[in-house]
This record gives sequence, structure tokens and C-alpha cells, in this order.
Amino acid sequence: MAILPIRIYPDPVLREPAAVVDLVDDAVRKLVADMFETMQDAPGVGLAAPQVGVQRRVLVYRAFDDDPLRALINPEITKSEGEQTENEGCLSIPGLAYPVPRAERIVVRALDPNGEPFEHEAEEYEARVIQHEVDHLNGILYIDRIDPELRREAKRILRERALGNAAPQPQREQSRL
Ligand code: NI
Repeated sequence: MAILPIRIYPDPVLREPAAVVDLVDDAVRKLVADMFETMQDAPGVGLAAPQVGVQRRVLVYRAFDDDPLRALINPEITKSEGEQTENEGCLSIPGLAYPVPRAERIVVRALDPNGEPFEHEAEEYEARVIQHEVDHLNGILYIDRIDPELRREAKRILRERALGNAAPQPQREQSRL
């Protein structure tokens, strides 16, 4: 296993849609193992393959400390219900967090690391984590989904930071996804 470097905004790889995994082989299982290790080292609760520069539809997460590590390959959200809005952060956009509207409950269909299809129901925080990571597979970042005024603030901070200027950061409790 290996800890992989996490790509940071505005790395263009974060904006490219990831490709479907045709065959769940040892290379994919090694990617999953490396992503688990990278996520735990960060530390974070979720990680999508494009965040480590790999354009394949693979994500890993663990919403709560007592949960097992979960890997979803070619995930598809087949059902979304309700609405929730909580702060989110992202390992690829360090130090920022903003409230993001998400579905409250989802059903996701995916392959497991053995290539077996399964369906999983999630709600509340776990549903939020999965939606954030599936967005990464489509080149979408959470700042795309926030209030336009807050998005302007976020982009200004990120621009200042890219120029090497110290920018004030809004202090919000955040999840690292
Ligand atoms: Ni993220």
C-alpha cells in the first residue's frame, strides 16, 4: 500500500469526468487499498480517485469511526429523497467549508472490490459523503453547489491563496471529504 499525493484545487484533474471501470482487477483493488491509506493518513472521511489523479470511477469513505471502510466502484445514485444542508469541506480545497444542500436519503448501486454488484441505502451524513464523492467522479466540486455569494467569497480566497497572499478564512466546522 502507498500514500498517494492528494491533488489540490485548481488542479485540472479535479474537473475531468472519470471513466467507468470495465474490469475490477488487482490494479483496481490496489488503487482502493492505496486510497484507503491516503484517506486515513489525510485524515479524511471520503476520497475519490480523481483526487489522487486517477480518472476512474472509484471512491472510498468511512462516515463514522465505527463503520467499516467502504469502496464503491462505478457508483450510481439511483434514488434521492429529501433535503439537508450542512457544512462540507474537501481534502482538495483545504481550510474552507461551506453549507451545501444535498439529498437526505439516497440509494447507491455500485460494484464492490470483488466486482460484485450491490445496492446500499444511506441517509444524513453518510448520504452527504457519498454525494460529495460521486460529484468528484463527475468533475464537480462542492463549491459549485453553494450559495452564489459564498461561492464568490470562496473563489476570491482561493485566488488570493494561489497568488501566495494570506487570505482570511471563514471559520466553520467542516468534514474532510
Ligand atoms: Ni472532496
